[in-house]
Amino acid sequence: MKTVLSGIRPTGNLHLGNYFGAMVNFLKMQEEYKCYFFVADWHALTTHPDPKLLNSNVKNILAEYLACGLDPEKSTLYVQSDVPEIAELYLLLNMLAYKGELEKTVSFKEKARQNPDNINAGLLTYPVLQAADILIHNADYVPVGKDQEQHLEMTRNYAKRFNNRYGVNYFKEPKAFASDQQMIKIPGLDGSGKMGKSEGNAIYLIDEPKVIEKKIKSALTDNGPEGKNTSKPDYIENLFTILKVVSTPDVVAHYDNLWNSGEQRWYGNLKKQLAEDIITLTTPIRERINEIKNDEAYLKKVTETGAEKARESAAKTLREVRGILGFR
Ligand code: TRP
Repeated sequence: MKTVLSGIRPTGNLHLGNYFGAMVNFLKMQEEYKCYFFVADWHALTTHPDPKLLNSNVKNILAEYLACGLDPEKSTLYVQSDVPEIAELYLLLNMLAYKGELEKTVSFKEKARQNPDNINAGLLTYPVLQAADILIHNADYVPVGKDQEQHLEMTRNYAKRFNNRYGVNYFKEPKAFASDQQMIKIPGLDGSGKMGKSEGNAIYLIDEPKVIEKKIKSALTDNGPEGKNTSKPDYIENLFTILKVVSTPDVVAHYDNLWNSGEQRWYGNLKKQLAEDIITLTTPIRERINEIKNDEAYLKKVTETGAEKARESAAKTLREVRGILGFR
């Protein structure tokens, strides 16, 4: 059975983009593959989070993962910092990572530009830690978005470099997960780019109905189509993209027909419908998140069991890697 692995940094809550872009695929994968899903709390340290908030952010994400349907009986769900083997592999892989290539990484350059006062070595070697996350379980597939492709490419380079240097065929070269249906990209509500935590244009799974209504109401629109069968501007297309994933096909067809008729003054109804269908989707998830977040004993059991399973696989890799490197 092939192995799938993905991590998420505990910075903020899951939004609709995460749900349709990643979670829906995770749920399918856990039925078909050996899956590892984890919270990357060491990675979060690169931006110096408040120690008082770190643990609650980790619990938050875990509760959200579980509420969406990730099943600790089917997948291995764990917290990165509970698996010290990852840190040792990170140390070992650092010897194969060169300063020049790390400095050229797009994500590093971006973070360094945003935070010129905190260009720490952890930020520079972020991709090496990510490679350790992936290689520690010798994962075959990593379901990630476009922004992570370079990190995955670097992981493959370290795997190849390790194999070449030590004359072994030990690490696999992990691939981005490409399912037949591409990962859906959910746009933001402000008409620009994709939905993101930092863009301020996201609808979160934990948003209360009132908040969702307000956000949808304030999404950018205009006076309506300028004639029959015109093409939609981006910000209108975006609303339709969300409608397509939360509403039934006949609802989508109804509004598509309205658009094509060239008629105006129906955006209010569209937004009402959109908000209602989002709320129908998120309400049971939100309720479960709040339940699980407050169930300390359950969360503890999930993370302990997850760490145990993850450490078993991680320890095996590390033992073999140490042997290959010549440690006795
Ligand atoms: N860098 C990823 C992100 O920002 C998070 C991450 C850490 C990750 N380790 C990983 C993703 C390993 C996939 C595999 O989203």
